[in-house]
This record gives sequence, structure tokens and C-alpha cells, in this order.
Amino acid sequence: MNRMVLLETDRLRFREHEPRDLEAFCALEQDADFRRYVGGRPRTRNEAEQRFERFLAPVTGPRLVATELKDEGRYIGYCGLHPHVDAGGPVAREAALAFYLAPDVWRQGFATEAGRAWIRFGFERLELTRIVASVDARNAASLRVLEKLGFQWRGTTGTAERPIHELELRAPLNRRNRPG
Ligand SMILES: CC(C)(COP(=O)(O)OP(=O)(O)OC[C@H]1O[C@@H](n2cnc3c(N)ncnc32)[C@H](O)[C@@H]1OP(=O)(O)O)[C@@H](O)C(=O)NCCC(=O)NCCS
Repeated sequence: MNRMVLLETDRLRFREHEPRDLEAFCALEQDADFRRYVGGRPRTRNEAEQRFERFLAPVTGPRLVATELKDEGRYIGYCGLHPHVDAGGPVAREAALAFYLAPDVWRQGFATEAGRAWIRFGFERLELTRIVASVDARNAASLRVLEKLGFQWRGTTGTAERPIHELELRAPLNRRNRPG
């Protein structure tokens, strides 16, 4: 296995971002459909490039990673686990799940397939006790994916114009209460 590959599923490969992903990454960030419920407006090319720089920077710990179709080797977006940060800072043994995929691959079960893999990775390898997700309340596709993955609604934050549903998935009982 390539040393940059972090995880694989039947159809997907997850790896660190590389400079060659720049064009595909910027195309996503500049796409109005992609950005509808995550930020609301397409990023400019300049904003997308600045964001891409941050995705290339070395980071320890969970982060969102490049996602490609195994059969085509094509970059289709990014997903994975990233730190769950609340008012007190990063929450120990918790992470947030997120997926950001290109519109031309939607509705083929890729986000669900990716989510299953990252949940398993989070509970088994990172020994997380809880995984959370925050979703624009209008983002029916994302809410449906999280429902399929077993997430439960825990509350709604955000604003009247942009309510955000907060969801959680707790570790299976036999994985909780281990020493941290
Ligand atoms: C949200 C997102 C990740 C879903 O990816 P996906 O690969 O299409 O998801 P899946 O195919 O695994 O599942 C989508 C589910 O939502 C359903 N769905 C899709 N669009 C829907 C809509 N507009 N209304 C209701 N349900 C919808 C699908 O039918 C499917 O459910 P089913 O299996 O019961 O039929 C993708 O749309 C995306 O990347 N959007 C842009 C970024 C974003 O909003 N990310 C979420 C941040 S929280």
C-alpha cells in the first residue's frame, strides 16, 4: 500500500492531500451546489487556494483527507474526522465527522461508505468515545447520511436564518470507559 494511503473502502481511497489536487480542490470550492449548505456561497479562486494551502500543511491528529475513486484514481473531495472543539478547546477522545464530495458523484452511497469507514477507524483505532457532526438543517442529503450511520439529534444551534443540527454517535458500549 502507498505510504500516503490512510484508509480504504471497497470503492474509495483516503490519503493526504498533494499539490496535484489543487485544480480539483478549487473547482469544488468554487461550485455553488457544493457550497450551498457549507458556507452558502462559492469561494473565489484566491480563497480556495488559501484554503488548499492549509490542507497541505503538516498536522498531527485527525484531519479531513483527500478522497479518491479507487477505480479511476480520481480526486472527488475530502472527508474524515477532525478535532471536536467546543468553548473549552479540543474535547479529549472525541472527533467530528464530515464529508465534502463532488456533485457529479452524489447519490451513489459514497458518503455513507466513507462515513462507515471513518466511524470504525475512530472507535477502534483512535479509541474515541463519541463522534459528533454539525449540519445545516436544510442539508437533507447530509442529514440522511448521518441518519443511516446511526447518528442521533442532540440539539439545534446556529441562527434563525441558518439553523445547525448537532448530532452524535456514541462508541459501542464495550468500547466505552477505557482508561484515556
Ligand atoms: C452531503 C453529501 C456528503 C452526501 O454525499 P452522497 O455520497 O451523495 O451521500 P449518499 O449517496 O451516501 O447518501 C445520500 C442520501 O441522501 C439522500 N438524498 C440526497 N439528496 C437528497 C435530498 N435533496 N433530499 C433528501 N434526501 C436526499 C439520498 O437518497 C441518500 O439516501 P438513501 O440511501 O436513503 O437513498 C454530499 O451531498 C456533499 O458532499 N455535499 C456538499 C458538501 C456538504 O454539504 N457536506 C456536508 C457537510 S455537513
